[in-house]
Amino acid sequence: MSNGTQDEDLMTPTTLTILPVEERLDGIVPDVERIVLEPLIAEVEQLKAERNAVVLAHNYMTPDIFHGVADLRGDSLQLARLAATTDADVIVMAGVHFMAETAKIVNPDKTVLIPDLRAGCSLADSITAADIRLLRQRYPDVPVVTYVNTSAEVKAESDVTCTSSNAVAVVESLDSDRVIFLPDQYLGRWVASQTDKEIILWHGSCEVHERFTGAELREYRTAYPGIQIIAHPECPPDVLDEADFVGSTSGMIDWVKDELPRQVVMVTECSMSDNVAVESPQTEFIRPCNLCPHMKRITMEGIRDALLHMRHEVHVDPAIAERARSAVDRMLAVGARR
Ligand code: 13P
Ligand code: SF4
Repeated sequence: MSNGTQDEDLMTPTTLTILPVEERLDGIVPDVERIVLEPLIAEVEQLKAERNAVVLAHNYMTPDIFHGVADLRGDSLQLARLAATTDADVIVMAGVHFMAETAKIVNPDKTVLIPDLRAGCSLADSITAADIRLLRQRYPDVPVVTYVNTSAEVKAESDVTCTSSNAVAVVESLDSDRVIFLPDQYLGRWVASQTDKEIILWHGSCEVHERFTGAELREYRTAYPGIQIIAHPECPPDVLDEADFVGSTSGMIDWVKDELPRQVVMVTECSMSDNVAVESPQTEFIRPCNLCPHMKRITMEGIRDALLHMRHEVHVDPAIAERARSAVDRMLAVGARR
């Protein structure tokens, strides 16, 4: 199995080609949906121009958002980097709350909006700042590496953050033989399998990826001989053992574009396959469908309303943001890895 380590400049996030509104969803959604969506996309474009706003979209957004209104698209690390460098006054985060908070942490002077405040994450809910303070008492002098899928308060208690694309590189960058890695036990175990450092785990998990099983993947291999299986490292170890490649959401997308498999199963949230299939006509995507209910809170209407009413603005207490920013900046200084 490969973990496909690559240099950062090969990991360019995708930027929406500016097509006329009426061409953006051509062949991507049924015509009956286009009739409803195109006026909404036109409204979003008008509002973006009036507000000097950009829409940053995670790879799990539905194809109408991903191909219709996203100015910049990517995985968590790419979205954090893009948020840190945009010239726009307003960032609309088409993703979940921790992504919007990260955008605000790296960009305190900009207005960051999230279309639906209920777009959370089971990993972010699995740990509090008080939990980290207790861990530090139990393991004094052991550095804390925190997955970005956490609240600003948790990041503020951490030494450095990481994403699925750079977790191994971040852990390796630390001058310590032991590392506390939280909150995702499965990503932590994946990292432990890639490094000689001792990893102390927390018990969080992603409610979407923990549902996949190795047995299910073996059934795909029987049903589709020769199929390639690529998986997100939030999956349990028996799933990752079955995979031909393990990587972040953008790592998986790049892998399909580079390897051009005949048939592939992307073991992650299902909107990804819909989005990548548009740009990879050579590949047949076999689709297990585990949806992230939080990501699916973000809709085209919600993005339009966010820009129309300038809601829901994401605020982070400045003292917490400053401490969280040093953990995020430390991560951004480490090269991106798949
Ligand atoms: P990526 O950083 O790989 O996009 O993952 C984010 C996420 O929430 C996956 O469930
Ligand atoms: Fe969180 Fe899992 Fe949804 Fe990603 S897929 S946002 S880790 S609940």
